Amino acid sequence: MKVLITGGAGFIGSNFTEYMLKKYKNYRLTVFDAMTYASNPETINKFRKNKNFKFIKGDICDFKAVMNAVKGQDMIVHFAAESHVDRSISGPEAFIETNVKGTFNMLEAARLCGVKKFLHISTDEVYGSIKKGKSKEGDILDPTSPYSSSKASADLIALSYYKTFGLPVVITRSSNNFGPYQHPEKFMPLFITRAIECEQLPLYGDGKNVRNWIYVEDNCSGLDIVLHKGKNGEIYNVGGDVEEPNIKVAKCIVDALSRDMGLIKFVKDRLAHDRRYALNSSKLKKLGWKPKYKFEAAIGLTIQWYANNDKWWMGLKGKKFSKYYRSNYGKK
Ligand code: NAD
Ligand code: TYD
Repeated sequence: MKVLITGGAGFIGSNFTEYMLKKYKNYRLTVFDAMTYASNPETINKFRKNKNFKFIKGDICDFKAVMNAVKGQDMIVHFAAESHVDRSISGPEAFIETNVKGTFNMLEAARLCGVKKFLHISTDEVYGSIKKGKSKEGDILDPTSPYSSSKASADLIALSYYKTFGLPVVITRSSNNFGPYQHPEKFMPLFITRAIECEQLPLYGDGKNVRNWIYVEDNCSGLDIVLHKGKNGEIYNVGGDVEEPNIKVAKCIVDALSRDMGLIKFVKDRLAHDRRYALNSSKLKKLGWKPKYKFEAAIGLTIQWYANNDKWWMGLKGKKFSKYYRSNYGKK
């Protein structure tokens, strides 16, 4: 089986590539990635020795490059996207280009090349903020930010390719992922890496916004199931069991690193900051999916990973690691 993974040098895409290389020894995986600011060559270097791994540097907005990469592939797992809400507020255009036009290019190439499965990776943010209950796959889309709106647009275009052309599309919408190799601009790695360095932790608004957290490996096992057992034209939520307000996660990080709670600083809220996301994942559970990790254990693993891999995130932050903080890691 030949599988093309777009965005495989990013956070979830690289974890998924690792998961697939380990599980399917006879699959040939090709990562197609533009290597934007969000990627790190270090993330995929470890795969290069594997004979089942190939890398193509390319942009999903470049249709010719996309066609060349898609030819001969059996399945596509499409992660590549602009993924940070704050950036979509300060510069929305790249989100429309990559997430909408780029996804269209992927679908069109998949159709022309007769790809047998197209797994489109989406997000719980397309449902918008929900006051109570949990979002189900059939709920209306009510996205808020240019990021979530661009993802919702891509979802609808992907479904149109199933309905109109019969392209075997499946969609996953996962909740907030955390784990190794996430860019330190995102909440959890930002707070962990800043807490390691004893820097202030900027908590938006009142800190009571709630996110539904999932450890990245649990998302990968869900994606694997949807890729192999998902019904064409269907959407599957992939949500973790835990819902937490940001303030609680921040305190958990500060505590685990034995830092001072005074590092947490309430700052101006994000524009149109969604209050709460929560997913109902019973549809995926019916296909046999079960998350493996408990939140407390998984956040511990994640903190330990960032503490042990400072070179990886220092590179992305454009910083040099201070020996002081390394020697003080784990002390107040
Ligand atoms: P990420 O920002 O860590 O990685 C994105 C990857 O895509 C990077 O390697 C980047 O270089 C690549 N990329 C960006 N633009 C590209 C382009 N034009 N052409 C080719 N490659 C390009 O993102 P992530 O957090 O791993 O998210 C992956 C996918 O999962 C996205 O589609 C995102 O919307 C979705 N998602 C993420 C989360 C989360 O919590 N991180 C939750 C739900 C859904
Ligand atoms: P983020 O990682 O950007 O994911 P998303 O907004 O896509 O869910 O943020 C997670 C939560 O953390 C969100 O409620 C915004 C909040 N947040 C902060 O409080 N401070 C920060 O510096 C960042 C980046 C996020």
